[in-house]
Amino acid sequence: MNKFKAKQISDKVYWVGAIDWDIRDFHGYGTPRGSTYNAFLILADKITLIDTVKAPFEDELMARIKSIIDPAKIDYIVSNHSEPDHTGSLKNVISRVKPKSVFASKMGKKTLKSLYNLEVDSVENKSALDLGNMTLKFLETRMIHWPDSMFSYLEEEKILFSQDAFGMHLASSERFADQLNRDLLRYESDKYYANIVLPFSNMVKRTLDQVGKMNLEIDMLCPDHGPIWRKNDIPIILEWYSEYVEQKPFNKAVIVYDTMWGSTEKMARSIADGIIEAGSKAIVLRCRSTDRSIVIKELLYSGALIIGSPTINNNIFPSLADVLTYIKGLKPQNLIGAAFGSFGWSGESVGILENYLRDMKIEPAIEGIKLNYIPGEKDLDQCRKFGVEIASKMKEILV
Ligand code: FEO
Repeated sequence: MNKFKAKQISDKVYWVGAIDWDIRDFHGYGTPRGSTYNAFLILADKITLIDTVKAPFEDELMARIKSIIDPAKIDYIVSNHSEPDHTGSLKNVISRVKPKSVFASKMGKKTLKSLYNLEVDSVENKSALDLGNMTLKFLETRMIHWPDSMFSYLEEEKILFSQDAFGMHLASSERFADQLNRDLLRYESDKYYANIVLPFSNMVKRTLDQVGKMNLEIDMLCPDHGPIWRKNDIPIILEWYSEYVEQKPFNKAVIVYDTMWGSTEKMARSIADGIIEAGSKAIVLRCRSTDRSIVIKELLYSGALIIGSPTINNNIFPSLADVLTYIKGLKPQNLIGAAFGSFGWSGESVGILENYLRDMKIEPAIEGIKLNYIPGEKDLDQCRKFGVEIASKMKEILV
């Protein structure tokens, strides 16, 4: 018996993707709630599959398709995004389905050739594909999330297939956002944006403007990960995205640290006390016990990145180097920074951390604080005042 069923989501469109309940690390992004790889089957005159799934889920995709039609009846496959979580199974699916054509953007065509030695047809930006009784329009969305990315819009059913955009890593039995808890959606959407889309915020902004100008009527927004957004909920996710792209600073400091014998931890806590005392929010995250994807998620709605490390072998803790390398690549904007740390005899860590900040284009807002061995009461009071000063500097950048 076929246990994998397609899920009808509109008159002519079915969800035929896969649920990855087990994934806990998506190329370095912690995914404790798993993910989905969404694919959609349009039962138009020309039957069309939108996207495929990650390689290990090929049979799940095929089984869901088989639950409604013979896969050999598929005329077209459209690849909206070439990253392997959506194309890992594409070559095998093409062999099994033998579609008349496979379409991707111009960059998608190149990428699929490079990744899999696949020859596909390219579609022009804003061109249309005639499906007989329906029409699919294409819109290039470069760098959301790769240069090849595009949206596909099914005119007759007003469905926008948006690949990575508006998605989240969330495995669930429910297929629609309106069946899930709003706070959970917000959390996972924020986290996904911060970890995947953040560095491309300017391009997301342009795409949102472009889609706005096209006056597309959208009854359903179908990303390639997580739940599908239906009519009344679409403004919610669009509103979240309009906030994300601005990256406005918030009155919250993210304190990221590691500690060897507890001294830098004491400093972190006292700095947080000072920030909170001054009326701002603070969150304290120890690198070694916090996934790097949580750190960048917390930075999305914050105004300060405060980093602390003891000096170890004339350097910083490797856990700090890991998270700072990750944050740097995601290019968060509109933050102030500061550094702190304890030391025994040489004390290089604070200077190194300040250089990391500058490298991320986050100018240290105040001089870093370093303390020798175990901080006493006076030292911790100095840290508390440091926190008060950070809060004051942070408020200056709020708009
Ligand atoms: Fe879900 Fe950029 O791949």
